[in-house]
Amino acid sequence: MNTRRFDFAPDFVWGVATSSYQIEGAAAEDGKGLGNWDAFCDRPSAIYEGHRGDAGADHYRRLGDDLDLIAALGVGAYRFSVSWPRILPEARGTPNEKGLDFYDRLVDGLLARGVTPYLTLFHWDAPQAFERLGGFRNAESPAWFADFTRVVARRLGDRVRHYFTLNEPHAFIEGGLRHGRHAPGLTLPLPEVLRAAHHALLAHGRSVQVLRAEVKNAWIAMAPVLVSGIPASNTPADVEAARHFTFGQNGDGLRTTAFWTDPAMGRGYPADCLRQFGAHMPKFSPSELDLIAQPLDAFGANLYDAPLVRAGQDGQPEVVPYPPGSPRTAFDWPVTPEAHYWAVKFAYERYGKPIVITENGLSSRDWVGTDGQVRDNERVDFLLRHLSALERASREGIPVLGYFHWSLLDNFEWNHGYRERFGLVFVDFETQKRTPKESYRVYRESIRATRSPRTTD
Ligand code: FCB
Repeated sequence: MNTRRFDFAPDFVWGVATSSYQIEGAAAEDGKGLGNWDAFCDRPSAIYEGHRGDAGADHYRRLGDDLDLIAALGVGAYRFSVSWPRILPEARGTPNEKGLDFYDRLVDGLLARGVTPYLTLFHWDAPQAFERLGGFRNAESPAWFADFTRVVARRLGDRVRHYFTLNEPHAFIEGGLRHGRHAPGLTLPLPEVLRAAHHALLAHGRSVQVLRAEVKNAWIAMAPVLVSGIPASNTPADVEAARHFTFGQNGDGLRTTAFWTDPAMGRGYPADCLRQFGAHMPKFSPSELDLIAQPLDAFGANLYDAPLVRAGQDGQPEVVPYPPGSPRTAFDWPVTPEAHYWAVKFAYERYGKPIVITENGLSSRDWVGTDGQVRDNERVDFLLRHLSALERASREGIPVLGYFHWSLLDNFEWNHGYRERFGLVFVDFETQKRTPKESYRVYRESIRATRSPRTTD
């Protein structure tokens, strides 16, 4: 078996990640309210081939088995998200006890198996009632999000110390409100989208304040996508161009890491984003920027792929196409392990915070062979290459705290339905049968090898 021993710090966090709407199913069970994605799935042509997320990977009913799979994988940490409509069916008001009970069982089950819970508060799974109130367009939304955070923290905060506030805010703001590809599927004018973005950042800030007040020794980060560039060569000019690309304004939109992370890290909105959006930006006060800039414990990064970037004639970053035939995932995303060195390095240089990879993984066209095995060789290779690049960053002294592979299970990949399989465990969506793939074994053995004491031979 193709496994490796990695040279990470002894307390490196080995993890695996999921999100509520993508796996839980049980869309209307035990008092769960209608979710924004439940409603979005009803919209004709919103989701690939009319797939629906209401059954997901049936995780709600198979919790015990899935926790056993996590434990047997040997990871020390599990990143999951809570479903806001399961906990607060009407977005605000009286919590649904049975929904909270589910997360009690989840957290207790993890702890009983020696796995540390890392809880994401918002991985795009909002009550439809929240959307009816205007969602993040409503200036009250940060207060509602703070209240939701408080409900979660008061119920689970005695056992859960690690939190992520928002997962990939560009995706639910720009994808959901501007491009309409994600729930709630709106195509609003830019100023309204930017106002919602500002509210989402305020919601992040208020949520951090609540966590600090409610949870002893809380550890808190955000989980944005880290859009980055890989230098096309090692020349200082190309490295500088890639650095600039990584935190510069990216196209005309909000898929720009610094738009989210600069304010959260106390640097305010980046100058080039302000230039780009000009008068479309909402008015904001210094005290709002202070509220957004709550102290964080780490820089979380969802890190998948990155383009090659070189310095153009004027020194400006220029994207260089990968050579024809370069590796790509089933999703058609280029395979770019070097990003796990360069982006991590650039993020550390900019913010000086320890880095945790909150998501990384690939979709491939897996199926169960006639012998009952799933040989996902591409995922095995992808995993080892990305971990090696991360190891390089760690060896150079960058504090790399951990790595969460996306994902534990094949799941509902948003508007792409069940077409893209990202799991270490194969799920047959007809029967919900789980089959650990070869990558599951390789990850498990690499974790085991890395953790086992070194022999001195
Ligand atoms: C990220 C999302 C996650 C999953 C992966 C493939 O953008 O955070 O839910 O869809 O991509």
